[in-house]
Amino acid sequence: MVLVLGATGFVGRHLVKRLLDDGYDVRCLVRPKSDLSVLPTHRVELATGDITELRSLAAAMEGVEAAVHLVAIIVEQGRSTFEAIHVNGTRNVVRAAAAAGVQRLLYVSALGTRPHAVSRYHQTKWQAEMLIRGRGDPTGRPYGWTILRPSIIFGEGDGFTRSVLSLLGKGPFIPIPASGRARLQPIFIDDLTACISWCLGHDEAVGQTYEVGGPERLSFERVVDMVAQRMAVRQRKLHVPLPLMFLVAYAQEILSRRPEVTVDQLKMMLEDNICEPTVLKDSFGIEPTRFEDGIKTFL
Ligand SMILES: NC(=O)c1ccc[n+]([C@@H]2O[C@H](COP(=O)([O-])OP(=O)(O)OC[C@H]3O[C@@H](n4cnc5c(N)ncnc54)[C@H](OP(=O)(O)O)[C@@H]3O)[C@@H](O)[C@H]2O)c1
Repeated sequence: MVLVLGATGFVGRHLVKRLLDDGYDVRCLVRPKSDLSVLPTHRVELATGDITELRSLAAAMEGVEAAVHLVAIIVEQGRSTFEAIHVNGTRNVVRAAAAAGVQRLLYVSALGTRPHAVSRYHQTKWQAEMLIRGRGDPTGRPYGWTILRPSIIFGEGDGFTRSVLSLLGKGPFIPIPASGRARLQPIFIDDLTACISWCLGHDEAVGQTYEVGGPERLSFERVVDMVAQRMAVRQRKLHVPLPLMFLVAYAQEILSRRPEVTVDQLKMMLEDNICEPTVLKDSFGIEPTRFEDGIKTFL
């Protein structure tokens, strides 16, 4: 039995289908208000729980051989802070997995995660990684862990392509933050779920941290061009100066409950988010999907 935490999210809903196709029994951790319509109606077990509440995880972990931890937030809201979800939540996942005798724990982190990262998202993801690896938590780690650090992930229902689409057709220009030259290495969702499934089936993945991305390093501006071309949108681009972008982000954080962009996200957008382009082929035997080909499957 594989437990997927974060099953109703973008990655989770694709992963659940992939694991079922690969013959795994799947249990999904869901919250009372989670949208269950995104999950298959049969062949999956549901367990209600919240990673911020340790006690709620015990029943979900019962009889589980492997757990895939996908729970994260990109924007803080109320009590859902990076500290609460990424750090304290992961501590709970680790404790519950250890107590239940789970043999494998796979954590989806993010490329750019490192100590002293510029964004709090990455800083707290680093703290989560350390907990998964077994440092900073006194309970000890009887399970075999694996960490995947993807670059931006794209596919049906992803937030990244949606936010690029929202830039098109909004006004006379397509706004590009700053120079738009920071590079990304978009990884197609089907390739990522194939990596996760591969890791669960291979002991050599235990104790490994894999940085994963697609075959191309693309600037944000190039990505916008590709999406605009696919959507047959012809619009001029306007590079928005950095101070103005930060001002907009600050204002949105203060004025909106659901900001379109935060200061933390802007900081991340300004740095390269890239890894070895051959990693999917070399480590998992997967031929990675190009961005242009991948978006044709859902745009
Ligand atoms: N998307 C990307 O481009 C990208 C890139 C790099 C790394 N990642 C990493 O990939 C993983 C999956 O990302 P995603 O895009 O699938 O995220 P997502 O769409 O935002 O999904 C987040 C999931 O976490 C669940 N969740 C949130 N708070 C929870 C809590 N307190 N207890 C239990 N569940 C909770 C949500 O459940 P509800 O449905 O109930 O809200 C949802 O199922 C994350 O670790 C993320 O950091 C994503």
